[in-house]
Amino acid sequence: MSIKVFGDKFLLTGRDSSYLLGINREKHLVLLHYGSLLKDEREFPSFSSRPINPMGTSLYRNNDPLAMPEKENSEFILPFSGVLSKPSLEIYRENEGSSYDFVYQGYEIKEASRFDESLPFPHGAGEELVIELTEKRINVSIYLHYLMYAENDMLCRYMEIRNDDAKELIVCRAASSSLSLQNDDYFLSSFHGAWANELHEERRKLSLGTTLLYSDSGSSSNRIAPFFSLYKDEEKGSSYGFSLLYSGSFETTIDLDISGKIRINQGISGLMFEKRLASGESFVTPLAMMSFSDKGRRGLSQNFASFTKECLLPPYHATKSRPIAYNSWESVGFKFNEHSLHSLIDKAAKLGMELFVLDDGWFGKRNDDASSLGDWSVNKKKIPHGLEGLLSYAKKKGMSFGIWMEPEMVSFDSELYKAHPDWVLKDTAGESLVGRNQYLLDLRKKEVQDYVIDNVSNILSIPGVSYLKWDYNRPFGDIPLTNGTCHYDYMRGLYRVLGEIRKRFPETLMENCASGGNRFDHGMMTYFDQSWLSDCTDSFERIRIQRGASYFFPPVVFSNHVSSKTNNQTMRLTSLENKFDVASFGVLGYELNLDDLSSLEEKTIKRQISFYKEHRDLFEFGSFYRLSRLDEDRFERWEIVNKDKAIIANFDGIIDLNGATRRLSGIGFDDDSLYEVKSRECTHSLLKFGPLVNYVSPVHLKEEGAVINALAKKKGIEGEKFERTVSGKILNGTGLPLPELWKGTGMNEGTCVLGDFGTRMYLIKPLSDPSDE
Ligand code: DGJ
Repeated sequence: MSIKVFGDKFLLTGRDSSYLLGINREKHLVLLHYGSLLKDEREFPSFSSRPINPMGTSLYRNNDPLAMPEKENSEFILPFSGVLSKPSLEIYRENEGSSYDFVYQGYEIKEASRFDESLPFPHGAGEELVIELTEKRINVSIYLHYLMYAENDMLCRYMEIRNDDAKELIVCRAASSSLSLQNDDYFLSSFHGAWANELHEERRKLSLGTTLLYSDSGSSSNRIAPFFSLYKDEEKGSSYGFSLLYSGSFETTIDLDISGKIRINQGISGLMFEKRLASGESFVTPLAMMSFSDKGRRGLSQNFASFTKECLLPPYHATKSRPIAYNSWESVGFKFNEHSLHSLIDKAAKLGMELFVLDDGWFGKRNDDASSLGDWSVNKKKIPHGLEGLLSYAKKKGMSFGIWMEPEMVSFDSELYKAHPDWVLKDTAGESLVGRNQYLLDLRKKEVQDYVIDNVSNILSIPGVSYLKWDYNRPFGDIPLTNGTCHYDYMRGLYRVLGEIRKRFPETLMENCASGGNRFDHGMMTYFDQSWLSDCTDSFERIRIQRGASYFFPPVVFSNHVSSKTNNQTMRLTSLENKFDVASFGVLGYELNLDDLSSLEEKTIKRQISFYKEHRDLFEFGSFYRLSRLDEDRFERWEIVNKDKAIIANFDGIIDLNGATRRLSGIGFDDDSLYEVKSRECTHSLLKFGPLVNYVSPVHLKEEGAVINALAKKKGIEGEKFERTVSGKILNGTGLPLPELWKGTGMNEGTCVLGDFGTRMYLIKPLSDPSDE
């Protein structure tokens, strides 16, 4: 039992955390403890937050100077209630004062179950405590739902407001959760960015006043993410992680006052929000997620990763390995025809790729981004034999087939827009904002939702379409002013569409994409199996992006592609081997022009793919640990581990010539066992060595000359082979010294040639005991 009642106290127990609620003498619901595990009643905090002396400038109730709402850890905050930090719930009625007081009425404990079909909901086995509070004067109730997923130490909360009064109630703010904590010198870590530049972590000491994390762009956004943490250390100590099970505009406020009280409100955006509840109507918020770990942020990440895998991801694919995709976007864009696609399929299949994904440009008359969104029928000029022809070609070559769609949008230049100009979400009076030549469809409307469901279903019903990349490439702009819940209603419309599509096509692998990571959140992960994290495919940038995602998500949702050596977005040149080493932490794919590969590059990719297939389960489902960070430690190190083996990868930034000896160390190895460590085989391009090839060449080769270029297409130089046996104690501790780096004075089979942005990957397996054989 994860929820127990002790008189007027309610204890929600996770694996390593407890949340203790109580009813105080004013009959208010207050938080008594959120943190380390309380085993039984004897461990309940004996202190009370009720002051023993009155205080100047404080407000109190019932003529009792010690009944100071400001001192209570109330589970929701009303304005004008004596609590001076940001409210979590704002309600009013026309021409009335707005001071309300909600008091405890009763509770219920039951199996956690979905309350509202159009909102994301976890599906693991959780228990739910529902506490009812009623307003003293008017017939309005609040139901606070607390869901405890004990195994993952995940506490979810949402709120329902119900108006049973004859008079209309207006709700203009309704946070999903409101939490009071005591500051302990916490750092706040949040994630910020932009298109193709997502998930920059910002860390700072939590500061006095109010920190606002929000998006009003209609989606959870690449600007500020809805997930964040309060923590003291990466590896140890109390840490709290937060997120929303929601993908639209949101608002989180984090208040810290001079007494050290922290109040965190998480919920939907309050921008122009107004919900009018007639008698008998209620309003329900999405779920907020919270987790506590006393094992630092590492512990938190494990909680969020396991919760995402076990309770959020759609069940069909949740534990199944993902196919290695080839995606057409970065190689051919809109410029392709059946013949060129066949050529790509041939090559992708030969290299061992498993899923061919036809990205944008296959429908309507779309040859650039100016037309056809909404017209979801194949462009026969480009693909005369249709999607059926293409996918049967892929099937013949041993590949499955997937497709790109952007179902929420309509191009100005489209048949759909001509037929239904009124289906667009915009301010009908003023000038409308356009993004990428397209408008958002008004998914608040049932007929528009049905149009989207039908069109996506038509495509997914084609036998053999096994994957869908669902894109979303513009934020909200202007909206019809008359509706105070436009953003929220849109999201509920979208969730209904996604829910219906998932119901119809549970086996289709679905990838979430929003110009990369413009809607990457836990809400989306209840409908999608994986997510395109960013439109930036530069391997060096991806280190930050994947690291950022790893704080709150498991690698099996990171869709990562190896793209061309010169990166499209940053123009940084890194090798295919470097790109693979980063992209393999998660779901691997390729997105470069396969027609342009040299025979050496083909061999390189083939070898990468067979390595990935051998360890796919580890890369996708292993436990992921951040060991060191580029911005702090000069290089980044990640470990991924399951019960049989581990892989540790080193990612360098700018090379540190003759710096400290590099060592391989990680976490979780058995001190008393021996391990075999092997570097992943890799090949260096001859071009990397520039004029230095002349040290070994019998004839002089001009740097960048035709001869060396021709040679480099066929031949490379094998990277150093590093193989050692080492004890778990050394791996857990000081670490195994790694090969010397190339420094221009000599090269032998032990020299590690890295260069700027270089990477190396090491496979670690317990040494089998010969007596076991
Ligand atoms: C944005 C996505 O993030 C890209 O991967 C690609 O699918 C383009 N849209 C296509 O328009």
